[in-house]
Amino acid sequence: MAYENIRLETQGVITTLTIDRPKALNALNSKTLQEIESALQSLSETRVLILTGGGEKAFVAGADIAEMSGITAGQAREFAAQGHRVLGMLESLPIPTIAAVNGFALGGGCELALACDLIYASEKAKLGLPEVSLGIIPGFGGTQRLTRLVGKMRAKEFIFTGAHVTAAQAKEYGLVLDVLPADKLLEHCRAVAEKMLKNGPLAISQAKRIIEFGADQDLRAANELERQGFAALFGSEDQREGMKAFLEKRPAAFTGR
Ligand code: CAA
Repeated sequence: MAYENIRLETQGVITTLTIDRPKALNALNSKTLQEIESALQSLSETRVLILTGGGEKAFVAGADIAEMSGITAGQAREFAAQGHRVLGMLESLPIPTIAAVNGFALGGGCELALACDLIYASEKAKLGLPEVSLGIIPGFGGTQRLTRLVGKMRAKEFIFTGAHVTAAQAKEYGLVLDVLPADKLLEHCRAVAEKMLKNGPLAISQAKRIIEFGADQDLRAANELERQGFAALFGSEDQREGMKAFLEKRPAAFTGR
């Protein structure tokens, strides 16, 4: 499918989705969100998804302010619903997702990264939720996902000040896993993806589901999810192959079945 504002590139089973509207610092307008949504629906062969931004300056500099400036409260509700749907779809993919934050990740851009499983950033990246500087609040899950990741007080500092923090600060706060030189960022993300690809896809998918659902439940209920997920993998081809390969002292050839 031909896209205007994003690019999809596949290397084996790793897909890189680039938000590519550099003239607007890759800002998310409705069309870009629609394109991301249809791209996410087309990933049946993909086993790891990497998200990044086109051009030199930005990952994504937020939701599109020009598009939002004239909308009504009702249209804003629909726009937020669209953003939540697309980011929810990203978060629920049964494969690992990695945000390669190569520049500004502000507002909706920071929220897009927060919907990924892992966030790595380049040394020149700046992250923040500056919506209050526009007289609004984050609308694509930032108040909730950031709070769950870094804690309530740090999230309030982020959101109330609207500050743009450096990648190094973001790492210190636990918002970014590691900071890489700009020209090594994608290479690093691909190397992490390759490590994941050695492992059982069903197991990774199950682990992701249980971490995500369990995080919102009390410990007893969450541990019950783990017990069920652990048992459910027994009898799969991946479980039989993984254990057989270990006992035969050879690498496993997983099929995801
Ligand atoms: N929406 C629309 N256009 C944007 C944009 C955005 N979020 N961010 C940047 N642009 C556009 C600029 O308008 C500019 O366009 P023109 O060349 O046509 O004037 C172009 O991208 C380049 O931007 P700047 O000239 O501003 O570049 P800079 O290097 O001077 O500054 C920046 C970079 C600090 C990121 C600055 O562009 C900026 O502050 N952008 C807005 C960041 C922001 O507030 N994001 C939150 C949006 S609200 C949101 O996301 C709501 C939500 O949660 C759903």
